[in-house]
Amino acid sequence: MAVQRNDPQRNDPQRNDPQRNDPQRNDPQHGDQGSAATGQRTATPAEPLYGGRGGRRITVRDLAAAKARGEKWPMLTAYDALTARVFDDAGIPVLLVGDSASMVVFGHDTTIPVTVDDLLPLTAAVVRGSSRAMVVADLPFGSYQASAEAALATATRFLKEAGAQAVKLEGGHRVLRQAEELVAAGIPVMAHLGLTPQSVNAFGGYRVQGRGEDGEQLLRDAKALQAAGAFAVVLECVPERLAAAVTASLTIPTIGIGAGPGCDAQVLVWQDMAGLTPRTAKFVKKYADVAGTLRAAAQSFASEVVGGQFPTEEYAYR
Ligand code: KIV
Repeated sequence: MAVQRNDPQRNDPQRNDPQRNDPQRNDPQHGDQGSAATGQRTATPAEPLYGGRGGRRITVRDLAAAKARGEKWPMLTAYDALTARVFDDAGIPVLLVGDSASMVVFGHDTTIPVTVDDLLPLTAAVVRGSSRAMVVADLPFGSYQASAEAALATATRFLKEAGAQAVKLEGGHRVLRQAEELVAAGIPVMAHLGLTPQSVNAFGGYRVQGRGEDGEQLLRDAKALQAAGAFAVVLECVPERLAAAVTASLTIPTIGIGAGPGCDAQVLVWQDMAGLTPRTAKFVKKYADVAGTLRAAAQSFASEVVGGQFPTEEYAYR
């Protein structure tokens, strides 16, 4: 698949893509556009989710179309404007402002302590830093479990105050009413099954879920969430055969994390995949050594300051 990493238009900080303001591209019917001049409908070849040119935000319709085409796609977490921009420029079509921020941003041990007020400004920053990716906001623990009304109130804040395009919540049958309420209000819902980290205390640790009969319940939950209107479902730490079976049974995309290669999409926490997190789970592949690079940069800076080599004339004002 051609990836336009070096396309100057994609990398232009002004994002002056001529198609950005093209009304046909922004047509909600994008993909089967009509011509005002001729009245004829012309089929536009679908762009890949990863490697597409951009010009407008990815929508739930694009994800549904990718599932229909059998196209795989990547999702990453993001928590600030600068990394959101990097991932957006790299062509990542969906950015999740995960409640994993609790650990990787705020330094907690679990996702339990992070609050709506913690996550709202991070979500707003990711929205401001990106222009193509769909931004999904995680609803934190305690902000939606009590009732459908609580879920609607929290999700509404993420859309109105932070500009997210969708929200994610954890759980199966126990959050069906919440999912239905959000969908009825026009809020796209990403579901999350398997190892749902907000339930770590109930699970007694971070363990693979969905083995044996639990797998049948997980499949039922996935189908029920799809029927409730969810547009995608994250499958975390489940046996790969179960994830593949769920993927084959659903018309909405599955997004795997520790769920094997059979899912429609894959997600990782960016600090894990880029080598910033000190210890990671078995399912994490490290694609860079950001911790090593940053450490070396910090040490070079420090030794030049101590040795008087920085700043030189080049970095001083006259
Ligand atoms: O919070 C998070 O980062 C997540 C994913 C990694 C799926 O829920």
